Amino acid sequence: MTQPVALEHVVVTGGAGFIGSAFTRNYLAWHPSARVTVIDKLTYAGNLQNLAPVDGDGRYRFVQADICDYDAVAPVLAGADAVVNFAAESHVDRSILDPDVFVRTNVLGVNALLRAATGAGVRRFLQVSTDEVYGHVGEGATPEDAPLKPRNPYSASKAGAELLAWSYFSNFTLPVLVTRGENTIGPYQYPEKATPLFITNALDDQPLPIYGQGEAVRHYLYVDDHAAAIDLVLHQGVPGEAYNIGADEAINTVALAERILDLLGKPRSLMRFVPDRPGHDYRYNLDCTKLEGLGWRRRYDFARTLEATVVWYRTHQDWWRAIKSGEYQDYYRRQYGAALAGAR
Ligand code: NAD
Ligand code: DAU
Repeated sequence: MTQPVALEHVVVTGGAGFIGSAFTRNYLAWHPSARVTVIDKLTYAGNLQNLAPVDGDGRYRFVQADICDYDAVAPVLAGADAVVNFAAESHVDRSILDPDVFVRTNVLGVNALLRAATGAGVRRFLQVSTDEVYGHVGEGATPEDAPLKPRNPYSASKAGAELLAWSYFSNFTLPVLVTRGENTIGPYQYPEKATPLFITNALDDQPLPIYGQGEAVRHYLYVDDHAAAIDLVLHQGVPGEAYNIGADEAINTVALAERILDLLGKPRSLMRFVPDRPGHDYRYNLDCTKLEGLGWRRRYDFARTLEATVVWYRTHQDWWRAIKSGEYQDYYRRQYGAALAGAR
């Protein structure tokens, strides 16, 4: 294990999104002398309310900018100790409807950031990646040196970003680290992903759309555990290395929907089976031995993770009701309209 590196000024890109905002809120609490500058474009998924808990903190600053815009981000990175890049288009279904913006932000945007970080001479550049870069895993657990076999435009763009980041490590000695996290849930997650979608639909007695037979398996990680793992890798990980971040229990979509309906006291008849996601990865499963070697232990098991998430959405309805109007309705109709009309 390396000695922890001291990082006083951290730039968090995509910090107004789900995991980036959790990281920012926690980072300021975990590191009392640190400063965080968030850069975010505020796309449909970015929301300054996610950062409201730190808004009055003098150690926090927000800059609205697009990571593709080198001229806008380079001056913000000047003098920073580290960059943690969460900024991305993050939803698989949207990447199947409209891949172009995924390549733009997730590949070209990361290139602009890597260039700016190299110019600024930062001490750490952490690229937040995903277990999806490994593609569908039929059996066993995936270690970090497994081949990358992404199977949808989102995961392909994330794999492209990783490869670019490694090239900056090799060519420009930028101290790059990569984390590959599993499905993350918790407060402030945009209600397009399965868990917050199912919870908020159930609260409104609306159908829960389940792709195919609902047999696809995921592991659900609590967002604060994901943030803590990124913090650990940022300070104690070895540059040039990738680290898996995984959760404990394998859950398929039907089981996820049933657990949510039970927690909310809603009938299972709200489940609706709709046509499968094209190219659906039916299983991911990470080997997290390397991260555990740095001392990481998750604090939330699946039951506690889901319960805390359900409670948050039940008690923060203003937050998600404001989102589930406008653009969200257009997306929902496009993604689910015909499928739900013909569902069983
Ligand atoms: P999110 O969609 O909630 O947030 C993404 C944020 O990035 C938003 O605030 C958005 O405004 C911002 N953004 C998008 N394009 C931008 C651009 N061009 N310039 C600046 N900002 C931009 O995503 P999330 O779920 O919080 O995921 C964060 C990161 O973690 C992503 O890189 C994602 O690939 C990765 N990840 C997510 C999960 C998960 O389950 N959610 C799991 C593993 C890894
Ligand atoms: O695995 C990490 C990835 O997890 C992250 O990199 C992505 O950013 C994040 O979006 C997430 O991707 P998934 O595609 O696994 O998550 P999603 O919540 O979209 O879907 C979870 C499972 O539920 C998956 O098997 C598809 C299924 N599903 C999803 C939706 C939205 C449904 O059955 N119905 C749905 O309406």
